[in-house]
Amino acid sequence: MEARTELGHNRTGIQMSPVHTAEMLSGANAIADAIAPNAIDAGALAAESRAGLADAQLRRRYAREADKLGSVPLPGTLSGLAHTGADLLTGRRPQVLMDKLGERLAFERGGVRLYDGLLAKCQADGGDLSAEDVAAIRRFRDEEAQHFALVVQAIESLGGDPTAQTPCADLVGVESQGLVQALNDPRSSVLQALHVVLDAELLDNAGWELLVQLARAAGHDAIADRFAIAVQQEAEHLQTLQALVARLTLADAGATCAP
Ligand SMILES: [Fe+2]
Repeated sequence: MEARTELGHNRTGIQMSPVHTAEMLSGANAIADAIAPNAIDAGALAAESRAGLADAQLRRRYAREADKLGSVPLPGTLSGLAHTGADLLTGRRPQVLMDKLGERLAFERGGVRLYDGLLAKCQADGGDLSAEDVAAIRRFRDEEAQHFALVVQAIESLGGDPTAQTPCADLVGVESQGLVQALNDPRSSVLQALHVVLDAELLDNAGWELLVQLARAAGHDAIADRFAIAVQQEAEHLQTLQALVARLTLADAGATCAP
């Protein structure tokens, strides 16, 4: 794994071979001329647009016919049923908060794994990271694990089941697959892995802010108050990662950060 961005034998762009580029353009032009010798072929354009329409129609049909991503389970405890029943009677929809709690739980679990992957890369080759930087990353990993436990407590206090996969938990699980793949690619550098974790922290910050709003709107101020610490810590994670990514990228470019 090479930490620095290097010039090398990348042959993906057409500038690599002016001769073949000219041949390709001449071939493309010949095909275009054969199809439409003097003008844009309205028939070909219409066929292309018909194909696009058919594709859109197919997608709409699938969207109409598909099942939902899942449902929020009914509480399996008496206290949970009482909570839910009382909320439903007042016209509230407590399943929305439970769904978003499930989402945060899934995301924090994934966050711990992302930080574990990042720390493994740092141990292999920390590059330009200081011991202080790595200590902060380790602390952030532990805080993600604490946030996971915090959400478990909240779900249990509402009589829910923290082992249930809610629809939004399912959604973020699929969304995060790209992050996990990019970070666990042995070829991605520490800086590239930091970029991945920065992406995750941007999502995480937005997720926590919404969750606190939702908990307050649902009348669960005690839960919202307990979540405030997570919101503060997530903001620090985001700020630190933004600064680290900027510092390492500028260093890679041979520049320095503005004070
Ligand atoms: Fe975080």
